[in-house]
Amino acid sequence: MTGITTNFIDLFKEDIFLLGDFTDFFCGNRIGEGCSRSVYEYRIDPRYVIKIDRTNLFNNVAEWDIWHSLKDSEHGKYLAPCLSISSCGRVMLQRRTQLIKFNQLPEKVPAFFADTKLQNWGRIGKSIVCHDYANHAFYAGGNRMVKAKWWDDSIGHFKVI
Ligand SMILES: Nc1ncnc2c1ncn2[C@@H]1O[C@H](COP(=O)(O)OP(=O)(O)O)[C@@H](O)[C@H]1O
Ligand SMILES: [Mg+2]
Repeated sequence: MTGITTNFIDLFKEDIFLLGDFTDFFCGNRIGEGCSRSVYEYRIDPRYVIKIDRTNLFNNVAEWDIWHSLKDSEHGKYLAPCLSISSCGRVMLQRRTQLIKFNQLPEKVPAFFADTKLQNWGRIGKSIVCHDYANHAFYAGGNRMVKAKWWDDSIGHFKVI
C-alpha cells in the first residue's frame, strides 16, 4: 500500500482540526438552520449553498430525488435547482435563493408542496422558487395547481393571497 488514502474517515479521525479546515474551505457564512439541515454559503461559487443534513431524515435525498423527477416538467420552475449530492446524501449543493416578501409569493402552486410557508421560498433572478421541498406529496399525486394557503413564521399564521 502507498501512503495515499481515499478513506476520508482515516484521513480525519485523528485530526478534527483538519476536518474543520477542510469544511471551512467550502463553507462560508451560515445562512440558515432548519429542523434537519444547516445551510452555508458555498465559498467556491456563491450562486450555491451547501446543505448539511445533521439527522438521519434524508431530506437532501428527498429534494435531490424530486428535483430530478420534475426539473424538465412544467413544475421544475418552482424548485431551487440541486447541483450535486454526496454519496450518503448528507451534503448537497443547491442554487442560492434571496429572501422575498409575502407579496412576491405565487397565488397558486402545485398541490404537492406540503409545507407552503414564506420562509421555504426565495428568489433566483426573476423566478420565485421553493428551497425547502423535502416534505412533499408528489408521489401521492399532487400535480394540479391549487390556491396556496401561505404560512408566515414571522406572524405565526396562515394567509391567502
Ligand atoms: N437554496 C437556499 N438558498 C438560500 N437559503 C436557503 C436555501 N436552502 C435553505 N436555506 C435557508 O436555510 C434554512 C434551513 O434550510 P431548510 O432547507 O429549510 O432545512 P430544513 O429541511 O432542516 O428545514 C432555510 O429556512 C433558509 O433560511
Ligand atoms: Mg426548513
